[in-house]
Amino acid sequence: MMISIIVAIAKNNEIGKGNNLLCRLPADLKHFREITSGHAVIMGRKTFASLPKGALPDRRNIVISRNKDLKIEGAEVYSSLDYALIKLIDENEVFIIGGAQIYAQTLAFADKLYLTKIHAGFPDADVFFPLIDWRAWRELNRETFPADEKNPYPFSFIEYERT
Ligand SMILES: NC(=O)c1ccc[n+]([C@@H]2O[C@H](COP(=O)([O-])OP(=O)(O)OC[C@H]3O[C@@H](n4cnc5c(N)ncnc54)[C@H](OP(=O)(O)O)[C@@H]3O)[C@@H](O)[C@H]2O)c1
Repeated sequence: MMISIIVAIAKNNEIGKGNNLLCRLPADLKHFREITSGHAVIMGRKTFASLPKGALPDRRNIVISRNKDLKIEGAEVYSSLDYALIKLIDENEVFIIGGAQIYAQTLAFADKLYLTKIHAGFPDADVFFPLIDWRAWRELNRETFPADEKNPYPFSFIEYERT
């Protein structure tokens, strides 16, 4: 099983504010959907709560919560990451989709990193991606796009694999 992290990070390592994303970038949402569709996605309970329409379609939704009574329609809820990963052992690629707490607990052993770099800063952000040791990652691919009428900030899609 390959473990991949997918995340959108702005200039100062920020990833969210007020339990929401930093900004609306439709191109990134499309990219996220294309990459994760058909796969299992693992998220923290707060990230699940931030999803506007609940469970993500066409994906096996996994939510991590210490609340053992929590039941969520359209998702499997597990009380630890380790237990979730054991349950997903037969998947070929599993995506860690946030948030900050879950990224912090998976960055050390993830195999791939799908990073959307948002080329802007968000001073009111309140959640951040953990520090990345770049010596551990090799860049495979990068595409950069300017801001346009739908996407208010320039951004890059960058793919890394562990060295
Ligand atoms: N930029 C991006 O790509 C991106 C992606 C995803 C999310 N985000 C943003 O990130 C923010 C949410 O991140 P967050 O760090 O506050 O929360 P989170 O990681 O989504 O969820 C935290 C919750 O997960 C559960 N949890 C965490 N570690 C656990 C463990 N080891 N065992 C069992 N349960 C565990 C706990 O749930 P219980 O409290 O229920 O026990 C905890 O409160 C939002 O602003 C969201 O929009 C950004």
